This record gives sequence, structure tokens and C-alpha cells, in this order.
Amino acid sequence: MTSSAQLKETSARQVEPWQDLSDDYRAAATRMIEFHMMSEIVGPVHEFRWVPRAPSLQAKLVFAAKSQDEVGHGLMLMRVCQDLTGKSRAEYMEQILDGPPRFMNIFHYPWDEWVDPAIVAWLIDGAEIERQATLLRSSYGPYARAMRKILKEEGFHHHCGRYLIGQMMAGTREQRAAVQRGVDRWWLRTLAMFGPRDENSKHGPKLMAYGLKFAQNEALRQSWLTKFVPQIRAVGLEVPDDNLAYDGETGRWTYTEPDWQEFSSLLRGGSPVGAELQRELRQARGISAWLFSED
Ligand SMILES: [Fe+2]
Ligand SMILES: [Fe+2]
Repeated sequence: MTSSAQLKETSARQVEPWQDLSDDYRAAATRMIEFHMMSEIVGPVHEFRWVPRAPSLQAKLVFAAKSQDEVGHGLMLMRVCQDLTGKSRAEYMEQILDGPPRFMNIFHYPWDEWVDPAIVAWLIDGAEIERQATLLRSSYGPYARAMRKILKEEGFHHHCGRYLIGQMMAGTREQRAAVQRGVDRWWLRTLAMFGPRDENSKHGPKLMAYGLKFAQNEALRQSWLTKFVPQIRAVGLEVPDDNLAYDGETGRWTYTEPDWQEFSSLLRGGSPVGAELQRELRQARGISAWLFSED
């Protein structure tokens, strides 16, 4: 266990990979950044599928650009992880394609109809922005710097999603109903994405103590609710939660809790959907590995 003096030292300043980092700090940073990296590489398989299926040329362009950005985020974070751990890119690709499914809960659900990718871009890239904005100050220098580019591109994704949703909401009754179905499907998944309340979070307190992250899960969720509940209602959609209420005195939202058991089972054990994303990437590697190898 690291002493509180060490914790204080590492949270007070930004550190670089060549510095003498404690094993405990390096392990905590690796765990957090590998999770983010794997999400950025596995998750976009959902988006690739929606490039040919998107209903307009503009929408295809949006999802082609978004997929490219996400893979770029993955590559950037892989370099950050390589510096931390000394693993090669080939070793990381093995870990991502054949290892345990350590990526965000939202990639474990199917994207069934056209509104799903648009809802994800709007609500979930919006949630990512909330989280990543605080990571600009992360104590691990290379991660904080990577976040500058990632954050700008997540902003583009969010605005694309918002635009596409706006178009559908200005369309037919069927289109508006499809968007409402999408919000109904993704609401609790998005709330869960921020992670459990901090008192129930296994790794959160250490990440905060090391300054690897700066905001508690619940604070980020509250801030997202403050921004997105009005956004959702403003376009004529309903928030699918009868318990949702804002307390003006405390400045806090109460809401129906996501299914935290499901959340932790997805993060620990994965899902058929997540396994299919990994399988698709493995298959692609199987076809082209003779032609191009990771260095
Ligand atoms: Fe991303
Ligand atoms: Fe994104």
C-alpha cells in the first residue's frame, strides 16, 4: 500500500513516464488508461457497421469520420499505455482481441436501429465529454495531453449526434417515436456509464488520491443530468424516469438507479455483443495478418 505522503506527492504535480513512478501509481494509471484505450478500439466496430447503413450520404460521412476519430483515440492511448508498461503494440492487440472484455458498458448492448448510433453520439459522447474535461488535469502527463485532442473530437461527435437527432425530431411521427424508443433504451445505460457512486467504487478513491482523475462519478453524473435533461426535453422528448427530480436547494438530481449488478457483470464478464465485437476484429486480423503486422 502506498503511503499518504506518496499519494500527496503524485497528486500535486503532473508526472512523465520516464520519472521514478511507484509500482502502485503505474498500475493504477495502466488500469485506467487501458480501459479507455480498449473502449476506443473495440467500441467503433458498432460505428463501422453504420457507415453503409446510415440513411443519407451526410450521415454516412458523419459515422465514417467518427469511426476514424475513435480508432485514432485508441491508437493514441495505446502509445500512452506502451510507455507505461513497455508492452509492444502487437502484445496490446493480442490483449484487446483475445483478452478479457475490459471496455465500457455501453458497447455491450446491441445497436438495433438507425437511432442507436445517433443517440450514442448525442448522449454518450456527451457523457464522455463531461468525464474527459476533468481528465485534462490528470496527474499522468501523457494522458492529460492526449485528452486535449480526444476531447475536441468527442465534441464534434456530440454535435453530430445532436444534429441527427434534431433532424429526426423535425420529421415524421414515426421518426420521433423511434428517437423516443432510443432515449428509453439508452437512458439508464448512459447514467450507468459514469460508474457507481463513489462510496461503492472499487478503484475510484485511489485514482482520485493519485490525481489520475479529478471528479467523482456522482458529480459527473449530476453535471451531465443538469445539461442533458433540458436538452432532451427541449427537442420534445421525454426522460423515461418517473423518479427524476431536481432539488433546487441542494442542486442535486434524484433518479432511478441503473442496474448496478448488470453493470458490474458486463464489466467483469462481458456480453455476447461485446464478444462479437472482439470476434469481428480478430477475424479481420486473421484475414490480413500475413500482409501487415503490428509493430
Ligand atoms: Fe473517442
Ligand atoms: Fe466519440
